[in-house]
Amino acid sequence: MPPPTHTTTASAPGKLILFGEHAVVHGQPALAVPLSAVRVTVRAEPMPPGTGTLIHTPDLERSIRVSVEPDPIPDRLHTALAYPIQVARRALNVPLPDMMLIVNSTIPIASGLGSGAALAAALIRAFTDALDRPLSNDALNPLVYEVEKQHHGTPSGIDNTVIVYEKPVYFVRGQPPEPFTIARPFTLLVADTGNPSPTHIAVGDVRALYEAEPDRTGAIFREIGQIVEQARQIIESGAAESGTTGSSTIESPGPLIGSLMDANHALLRDLTVSSPALNALCAAARNAGAWGAKLSGGGRGGNLIALVPPDRAEHISRALRTAGAVGVIETTVT
Ligand code: MEV
Repeated sequence: MPPPTHTTTASAPGKLILFGEHAVVHGQPALAVPLSAVRVTVRAEPMPPGTGTLIHTPDLERSIRVSVEPDPIPDRLHTALAYPIQVARRALNVPLPDMMLIVNSTIPIASGLGSGAALAAALIRAFTDALDRPLSNDALNPLVYEVEKQHHGTPSGIDNTVIVYEKPVYFVRGQPPEPFTIARPFTLLVADTGNPSPTHIAVGDVRALYEAEPDRTGAIFREIGQIVEQARQIIESGAAESGTTGSSTIESPGPLIGSLMDANHALLRDLTVSSPALNALCAAARNAGAWGAKLSGGGRGGNLIALVPPDRAEHISRALRTAGAVGVIETTVT
């Protein structure tokens, strides 16, 4: 195989789970959208013969050399960087090329925004593009899923799917993802507690809870699944219909979607994956005029999302910062 001769750049977005995290691991549906405001970008550059494959992360001041097989070292960052390339190399059935992959990311790590899947997607895209073996999204998605399994054992597959296709998705584990349409754009605030929390621990704890109390926990999963179905219907139709004396008027669906977010958050709290900081920020958002708020992703820390009337976004954002959010991103979901 000729060595790579040109520089290529690839990227992948973050993601937001709108509804259904955790229950989706146990067979319920979930809704997720890409979050393009934060991204991982990887530049692949050819290197002199004999260099091998190197990965450099300027932000984290870390450089690693990729070996052909996964290294048996207990270093999560090393594995997060090297494993996507090991998986891609095996899939293409090529030797490791002389190449430097330079990673830049604006997605906070372990914060519910899909940093692991986005890192894997951008690394594999840059690597395969540089070798002139670009992958379709359909071919990339299972490779990123394999990396996700390495990270946290029993991922549902929603993170890799929404990040690779970069489209809103209605997702049920083991089924082909269904695109879903957003009839009316809506505004979300994404507020960071500043407390990183690895997804695999929360997912493992929910599994343990399910094993200890299958009836109660299974009922919570099913309730979350019903919320997801209702939310999908409202988001896809873009309307909250209210009947008045025989005729019906079309109202903003914001309050209805917001109340579903509140209900989903309460159920996630019952699953033990919220935290005092997340609960406090959700309350602050609602008190400042948000239609609803919930944690997003693995929970225990990381980020929450608040659905807000666009003209109140700035005010609610300030309230979230005052209540302790270390960062707030405003995004329009379209
Ligand atoms: C993590 O972004 C979402 C979880 O539901 C885990 C998963 O679906 O694999 C918590």
